Amino acid sequence: MKLAPSILSADFGRLAEAVQEAERAGADWIHVDVMDGRYVPDLTFGPKMVADLHRATHLPLDVHLMIERPEEWVDRYAESGAAYLTIHIETTADVPRTLAAIRARGVRPGVTAHPDTPVDRLLPHLALVDLALVMSVRPGFGGQEFLPGSLERIVGVRRALDEKRLSAELEVDGGIKEGNCRAARDAGASVLVAGSAVFLDAAGPAAGIRRLRDALAA
Ligand code: DX5
Ligand code: ZN
Repeated sequence: MKLAPSILSADFGRLAEAVQEAERAGADWIHVDVMDGRYVPDLTFGPKMVADLHRATHLPLDVHLMIERPEEWVDRYAESGAAYLTIHIETTADVPRTLAAIRARGVRPGVTAHPDTPVDRLLPHLALVDLALVMSVRPGFGGQEFLPGSLERIVGVRRALDEKRLSAELEVDGGIKEGNCRAARDAGASVLVAGSAVFLDAAGPAAGIRRLRDALAA
């Protein structure tokens, strides 16, 4: 089970340290939430931040693009050193073409959908990606509650991946805590994103990561 701490809940004034702390604590990937103030109301950061973080850590950067027209940004994020680039199917006119452009630039493509979008709409794209992401909160903010119905969506994507004998990672993003991480894994997830559970842990990110690992092992 991979853990991908989301830096959305970290202190943006000291992101490099936050990422390095997560790396020392055994995080597998760093999840980077890019928001454009259009597809989602908030704004976070762009390719320069990804490039700077890439120099600060050895961990793969799992870049979640919550932006309109991601196709216009593929080159910049590929140059920034992103390992994975995940797009929302609602944001681009030609999903297969954008996924192919990401792969052509040497980055692993990922695909996701808004929780209001039927999860079946992800299935035609599974053969084109290295990562399928199930959003378990509405995109836009950290610290939200895990949406009921998300486990069924994970099960649905897991079944489709297995039926097609596809080895893409199945990632879950939003509201992952000690109390539900096992259920997400048992539903078929291979990567868990956790923002507030890691970076808002009163004892620091290493403690947050340890709590999640302990809960998974229990
Ligand atoms: C929400 C983001 C998530 C968020 C997760 O739009 O995609 O990655 O940071 O944060 P938590 O774990 O606090 O729900
Ligand atoms: Zn995310």
